[in-house]
Amino acid sequence: MALVTTTEMFKKAYNGGYAIGAFNVNNMEIVQGITEACQEEHAPVILQVSKGARAYANHTYLVKLVEAAVQECPDIPIALHLDHGPDFETCKNCIDGGFTSVMIDASSKPFEENIEITRQVVEYAHKYGVVVEAELGTLAGIEDDVNVSEEDSSYTHPEEVEEFVTRTGCDSLAIAIGTSHGAYKFKPGTKPQLRFDVLHECEKRLPGFPIVLHGASSVPQEYVQMINTYGGNMPGAIGVPEDQLREAARSAVCKINIDSDLRLTMTGTIRKYMAEHPDHFDPRQYLKPARANIKETVRHKLVDVLGCAGKA
Ligand code: G3H
Ligand code: 13P
Ligand code: ZN
Repeated sequence: MALVTTTEMFKKAYNGGYAIGAFNVNNMEIVQGITEACQEEHAPVILQVSKGARAYANHTYLVKLVEAAVQECPDIPIALHLDHGPDFETCKNCIDGGFTSVMIDASSKPFEENIEITRQVVEYAHKYGVVVEAELGTLAGIEDDVNVSEEDSSYTHPEEVEEFVTRTGCDSLAIAIGTSHGAYKFKPGTKPQLRFDVLHECEKRLPGFPIVLHGASSVPQEYVQMINTYGGNMPGAIGVPEDQLREAARSAVCKINIDSDLRLTMTGTIRKYMAEHPDHFDPRQYLKPARANIKETVRHKLVDVLGCAGKA
């Protein structure tokens, strides 16, 4: 199967009450770990590349790695997506350079400016059959000392979503309902809780339209502990409870972004391996278990959280 857009994936996910996993890729082992799990579990998948990933690994290397995965995993649909495209030029570069989906993230800009930039990207992308994810609302940075009303202001305002989607023509919309990027999503001692009321209000106003969740890693404590046991220092790393992600996947949420969980898996595994084999220096020796554990982390997401196993 050639690279696909997310259109069909999202239609099926919306109607089927599950979500597609969107996993960030930065190197060969991560691409392999993710796609081997998806091929074995017969799950459609989105491989996404951030600006930082393009700076680290180079656009061409990443596209070629994903093309290799498409060839190695012939039974599953794979989309190649730009994560958090910062401007029109970066989106255009990726559209021209083989991506099937781009995100334009102008969510930090005022509403009218966000609409204008997003509309411009949509116009260009659609000419080439590429789909566009946009964002409205900014993800909560729960570590900040914010009071409730300030915190509220970073959630997506449901009353804005119809106008935004209609005027931009975007194909999916990322909303802010209490998730955040990274490994420290909630204060220790507080109860992590997503704003399902905001999600359901957006869902009601955009019937049939795919919603996206960013910052949706669950920060597996098994790997946080592994990191801390073997020389790391990540106290109070807390993620989104997986039962809440499962609940979101049953709704209009069709794409769930996961990056930090893969980073924790890889780092924990390598730290443990290094500590247990102080004389080893062949990178293949420690990257092999790291890749194998990424595969298992992804498998768990597909089967137990996203519900997309067997949906390819
Ligand atoms: O949302 C951001 C993703 O986790 C990618 O992170 O920009 O460090 O590559 P990055
Ligand atoms: P996490 O940091 O929760 O993995 O979020 C990743 C993400 O949203 C990528 O866009
Ligand atoms: Zn994100």
